[in-house]
Amino acid sequence: MKNIFDKTSINKLELKNRIMRSAAWMNAADESGFINESLIKIYEDLAKGGIGLINTGYAYILKEDKPNPNMIGIYDDKFIPKLKELTDTVHKHNAKIGLQIVYGSSTSTHPNAAEMDLIGPSAVKNNMTGITPKEASIEDFRHIVKAFGDAAERAKKAGFDAVQFHAAHGYFITLLLSPYFNRREDEYGGDIHSRAKLLYEIVAEVRNRVGKDFPVMIKINYDDLMGDKGIQFHESMEVFKRLDNLGIAMIELSAGNLAANPEIPAIRTKLSKIESQSYYKEAATELAKHVNAKVAFVGGNRTPSLFNEIINNSDIELISIARPFIAEPYLVNKWKENIDYKAKCVSCNRCWDTVPVSCILNRKK
Ligand SMILES: Cc1cc2nc3c(=O)[nH]c(=O)nc-3n(C[C@H](O)[C@H](O)[C@H](O)COP(=O)(O)O)c2cc1C
Repeated sequence: MKNIFDKTSINKLELKNRIMRSAAWMNAADESGFINESLIKIYEDLAKGGIGLINTGYAYILKEDKPNPNMIGIYDDKFIPKLKELTDTVHKHNAKIGLQIVYGSSTSTHPNAAEMDLIGPSAVKNNMTGITPKEASIEDFRHIVKAFGDAAERAKKAGFDAVQFHAAHGYFITLLLSPYFNRREDEYGGDIHSRAKLLYEIVAEVRNRVGKDFPVMIKINYDDLMGDKGIQFHESMEVFKRLDNLGIAMIELSAGNLAANPEIPAIRTKLSKIESQSYYKEAATELAKHVNAKVAFVGGNRTPSLFNEIINNSDIELISIARPFIAEPYLVNKWKENIDYKAKCVSCNRCWDTVPVSCILNRKK
């Protein structure tokens, strides 16, 4: 019998259990992207709380594209020393940490987004933000590929154990893969492998820059949930198989595209009934049959007995969780003591509106 508290590994990276913190922006870095003591403390608590692999909130790879305020910056070497303090702190508590990296494009929710020179695969309006990005030139694409490579190399230098691309929920890579947002007529548009061509180039660049053992991971939509206007599973599966061949070490599944539908189903509410939880388990079970990469999924994972059932009935390796750790960074330790402990998070999504991100149930009266 497999157990959620078993050790596991991604490439040569050993993890003390199969529980992962899905990337979550904490609205807590400074205006230029530097992290500070309070953000390090947030991650230290997560590390002490028993999580095997912690993914940071998305970090921006180019100064001119910052999809949210108070994000972690990784667009310059100047960020490395402070980020090294963060990774050293997490490592002290026997946890591992990956840096999530993003190019945002038109899905930017930054209040100054209109003043940014945002580029996308095609000049298609984003329904959530109203932004129509500039269609990228081939030169722009080269600039982005290099920026991902630079960011990954910096992450490694700063002591991160892995990097993860944010390719879910409507950011640039989601737009590239989408037949609705990518209407290019050159070699980067058209059938699925053409739309994914730039992603393959980004992965190859990053792999070259960080070496073969360093885990390069991706959080990605299996479905944009916009019918045949967006990517669907039969197409995304083709991309996953190719990414597997390119050496992606872990694929974390999610779904939904903010650019088309701001009511993103990736961050569902009303999850108290067990039947509503772990809502992408079927897709992840299917994916795990087809790839060598480790498979994880995120979305409504709340109940450890269900996690054990899922991992014993599939080849899913890791269970990924975001909001419950905002309410309770020590949740894994609590589950270890009592597997039936009920997480405090009620999945209300009000953590979004707090600075820094925090659980409203923890507010002092
Ligand atoms: C406050 C907040 C910040 C988030 N930031 C990110 C992020 O930086 N990168 C990302 O991939 N997903 C982000 N997400 C989405 C979560 O990682 C996750 O996919 C979603 O919350 C569903 O999982 P859950 O039910 O375990 O919360 C964020 C979610 C919340 C609530």
